[in-house]
Amino acid sequence: MKFGHFDDRNREYVITQPDTPLPWINYLGCQAYFGIISNTAGGYSFYRDARLRRLTRYRYNNAPFDFGGRYVYLRDEESGQFWSPSWQPTRRELENYSCRHGMGYTVIGSTLGGIEAHTRYFVPLDENLEVWQLTVTNRRKSKAQISAFSSIEFCLWDAQDDATNFQRNFNTGQVEVEESVIYHKTEYRERRNHFAYFACSEPLAGFDTQREAFLGRYRGWDSPAAVEAGQLTNSVAHGWAPIGAHQVKLDLEPGETKQIVFLLGYHENPVDQKFDPPGSQTINKALVKPTIAKYLDPVKADAAFERLRQYWDSLLGIFQVETPDFHTNRMVNIWNAYQCMATFNMSRSASFYESGIGRGLGFRDSNQDLLGFVHMAPARARERILDLAATQLPTGGAYHQYQPLTKRGNNDIGGGFNDDPHWLIVGVSAYLKETGDWSILDEPVPYDNEAGSEQPLYEHLQRSFRYTLERLGPHGLPLIGRADWNDCLNLNCFSDTPGQSFQTTTNKDGKVAESVFIAGLFVHAGRELAAIASRRGLAAEATSYLAESAKMEAVIREHGWDGGWFLRAYDDFGAKIGSKDCEEGKIFIESNGFCVLAGIGLEDGTALKAMDATREHLATKHGIVVQQPAYSRYYLNLGEISSYPPGYKENAGIFCHVNPWVMIGEARLGRGDAAHDYYSRINPSAREEIGELHRCEPYVYAQMIAGKDAPTFGEAKNSWLTGTAAWNYYAIAQWILGIRTTLDGLEIAPVIPTNWPGFTATRIFRGVTYNISIERKGEGNLIALSVDGKPIEGNVVTPPADGRKEVTIKGILS
Ligand code: BGC
Ligand code: NOJ
Repeated sequence: MKFGHFDDRNREYVITQPDTPLPWINYLGCQAYFGIISNTAGGYSFYRDARLRRLTRYRYNNAPFDFGGRYVYLRDEESGQFWSPSWQPTRRELENYSCRHGMGYTVIGSTLGGIEAHTRYFVPLDENLEVWQLTVTNRRKSKAQISAFSSIEFCLWDAQDDATNFQRNFNTGQVEVEESVIYHKTEYRERRNHFAYFACSEPLAGFDTQREAFLGRYRGWDSPAAVEAGQLTNSVAHGWAPIGAHQVKLDLEPGETKQIVFLLGYHENPVDQKFDPPGSQTINKALVKPTIAKYLDPVKADAAFERLRQYWDSLLGIFQVETPDFHTNRMVNIWNAYQCMATFNMSRSASFYESGIGRGLGFRDSNQDLLGFVHMAPARARERILDLAATQLPTGGAYHQYQPLTKRGNNDIGGGFNDDPHWLIVGVSAYLKETGDWSILDEPVPYDNEAGSEQPLYEHLQRSFRYTLERLGPHGLPLIGRADWNDCLNLNCFSDTPGQSFQTTTNKDGKVAESVFIAGLFVHAGRELAAIASRRGLAAEATSYLAESAKMEAVIREHGWDGGWFLRAYDDFGAKIGSKDCEEGKIFIESNGFCVLAGIGLEDGTALKAMDATREHLATKHGIVVQQPAYSRYYLNLGEISSYPPGYKENAGIFCHVNPWVMIGEARLGRGDAAHDYYSRINPSAREEIGELHRCEPYVYAQMIAGKDAPTFGEAKNSWLTGTAAWNYYAIAQWILGIRTTLDGLEIAPVIPTNWPGFTATRIFRGVTYNISIERKGEGNLIALSVDGKPIEGNVVTPPADGRKEVTIKGILS
């Protein structure tokens, strides 16, 4: 069952049925001002930080599920009928409902009783505002008199406080209304120098700013009293719940179309220019008015939309492919790349599943996100890397997350996740491979944001690596600390108290429990660091990193190999986790996927065994589960992983983030059919037809699909903000299609399905456009390359010596 369809030419997903199994969302904004928007206009907006600068309210986990939004109402003045063209919140039956989610914009509309209406929502580049362009067309044979209403509910800035501190908040709300603009200025009188505004391009027939006046007592957004009455009440909010609502009257001839532009924006005044006149309590609007005037002009709004389109065209144009599989093409060319940008922008803060108040930017998450977007936004990647490194602790360890507004690490969800530091090496390495910008390694970066502690970024990488060497356990494997990639494998937690955080509780000294996954990551990071060191002319250092990696590899073979697959860990009693000897949790995906990704066991057959065991025990038709058998009860020594019912999340759910490690593992073994088969099982586009089961958006990855032990096997959750985006992109682009960035140039090493005759791709890399075509002549992965018609040795294409900007690469696979 489908709820819409892809429109690949326009890079849109078109939803044609409003009651999708879950709200299917999109993101507005890509720099500082952001919003989430659902297919029925639900969602909210914020400036930079979804918790601390929330502009509008959203009621998470409410009934109906998706509640609070950018709602438009139309009222037919003759009949008194009113409805929302976006279906919600009135939920009237509509004709031709559609929601087009595109690259940074969403258009929602429908027709009712001959009145067609669409709203296009987007955030112009370089502005802190969103534009709503509402077009209303009279398709009747007679004149129509319509009142159009806009509405939003302001959040009193700190979304956490807004949802809890009512004894204060019911008193603080303040607004100003001037001409067609509603200004929300709660707390502006004291320490804030920012306000929100909600503007309208047309003269108003009325406005409301007090929620109760608009909705009426005991009524909801589905039937606002003032809309029903056909007249807003010009209410001015003092305390309670400030909202913004405009009313515009439209007289439409048959066939006539009119457009109204609404703007919702954020503005900061210089502290000494807050008020006008100075000394008054009235907002100084002089600095924001030109911006408002500009975007209320539909011509300028259209031009801004065009600019946004070009921005996305140029970003996505950096890598485009044409393969025999349209699901692959669509995800690589459009949606997966787009999701990588959204994930980078949001980290894990604001989605339908992340409330925007809980989590800052994860250290581990942000570093991995780099893999998916570094080619599209190298300058921002550079900035992100330096910000992340600046929160690193002098020990080489890391805060688990930091707040985007302050760029400071915070301890809310703890530190001491012993995999964290290595992801910095992985992230920096991806950046260097993409850009060749070696200067980043010499950037002075502080530790823990402490002025005076600056050291070159390169030293941060060295400390990351040493961090593990200084934290080895009884078998010589890395101590796991709070947890590793799997946040829920809490081997030092031993929590028996309800409500205790698994992320911050520690009841063990952490000197015993070890992680084979971190060991694999360490081997990988060591080799990446060695490659970097040797190109910096530090041969001895490079050798020592390789030696440490080799030593760890030997330890993995001795203590991390279970006979048929890689063990997962040792717990605080020194007992094995992820072993055939365990009752439950005998085999895990992370250690098997990552050790093979790191190249461990490729020569001696252990990698092959690990991947075969993964297939046998963990692969399902909906993807590869985290472990088997699922934990059927709570284990004090394992922590949160066993808190989930079997088949969900880390307890044997299909974690789409780690499936690509196995895809890459299969690619490293040369098994392109298996790699692409795994890729397809979780590819959201390939799951579109099973929308009723999958439930999440078919255009973006979800973090998790319920595993085979779950009653809802195949059901996805936590779409959008997940490392899944970057890793799937990286796996298909760099390991299956095999167009791989290296420190020296572009490596071409496809491991594609045997029945593909080939594929073509365009890749802009370090300023050069590479037109690549791969032709399959035999069933293997051996590649013969020619560059601009000349055969080359090996498979790494280095930048043209003569400065050419366009290069043709042909590869023959045999
Ligand atoms: C989730 C993990 C997540 C962690 C972050 C846990 O409840 O299951 O997926 O990484 O929270 O804090
Ligand atoms: C989601 C978290 O954001 C990520 O950091 C973690 O690795 C996975 N869950 C697995 O627990």
